[in-house]
Order: sequence, then structure tokens, then C-alpha cells
Amino acid sequence: MTTLSDIQVLVSAGSKHGASAEIADSIGETLAGRGFDVTVAKPEEVTDVAGYQAVVLGSAVYAGHWTDPAKDLAQRVAAADPKPAVWLFSSGPLGDPPKPEEDPVDVSEIVEANSARGHRVFSGKIDSASARRRS
Ligand SMILES: Cc1cc2nc3c(=O)[nH]c(=O)nc-3n(C[C@H](O)[C@H](O)[C@H](O)COP(=O)(O)O)c2cc1C
Repeated sequence: MTTLSDIQVLVSAGSKHGASAEIADSIGETLAGRGFDVTVAKPEEVTDVAGYQAVVLGSAVYAGHWTDPAKDLAQRVAAADPKPAVWLFSSGPLGDPPKPEEDPVDVSEIVEANSARGHRVFSGKIDSASARRRS
């Protein structure tokens, strides 16, 4: 009999300043708490996508686009055989009401390539310390 602990789940998020990585950590903790065998890793640290039955992949959005490491992982997951079940999230919109309202431009292609079961948008967060460092 398959139990939840037999289901290996990869949770990963492209993140420049940590907010999307925090979301990935939180999703990973929740799924592990439910009994799944969860790996949380940065997209660039995922060397092998084989063996995961499910993938939760997200990215911060910058100027309308996912980060390159997240897009790269999305491509590798889409090419996996057998294909895992995939859920996606984007983290970006800021303010109240949150802007922008449109999905990131890469998402429809990534949804399609992965036959994703869903795509959720979470509010973004500005890391003011790193924003100050950039200015
Ligand atoms: C220069 C810049 C450009 C951004 N462009 C977008 C965007 O096009 N769409 C969006 O939804 N959010 C945008 N954001 C908001 C970020 O996606 C948001 O702050 C996100 O939480 C950052 O995630 P991270 O800390 O994981 O890098 C932008 C933020 C910055 C600083």
C-alpha cells in the first residue's frame, strides 16, 4: 500500500531576495507535516529531477518574468520521464490592491509544458535592506 511517505515531493522557488524561498519553505513544511517525503531546494541546486512524484515550483517575478533558474528547472521537470504532477506559484504583486494583475509572461508556457495542475499567485514582498543596497 502506498502511504504519503512514499510520495517524494520537490518544492523549489527561484528567489533573488528570499521572499519566494520563504514561501517554498512554508509549503515544504506544510507538506512534510502532512506526511509527504519532501525536499526543499533552490532550483539551481536540483541536479536530478528524476524520482519525484510531485513538484511544487515557483518563482519571484521581475519585470514580468520568472527567474532564469526557475525557468530552467521548469524545463527540466517538463522533460522528466515519467512526468511528475506539477503545481506552480508566482510571487510578485505588491501593494493594495496588488499590482500587476496580469500573470507573469512565462507562466502560460510553463503551465502547458508541465501540464500543471494549478498556478497560484502570492503577494510579493520587498526586502527593503537589499533594495537600499541596490540604490
Ligand atoms: C525591480 C523589481 C521588479 C519587479 N517586477 C515585478 C513584476 O513585473 N511583477 C510582479 O508581480 N512583481 C514584481 N516585483 C516584485 C517582486 O517579485 C517581489 O518583491 C517578490 O516578492 C520578490 O521575491 P524574492 O525576494 O524571492 O526575490 C518586482 C520587484 C522589483 C524590485
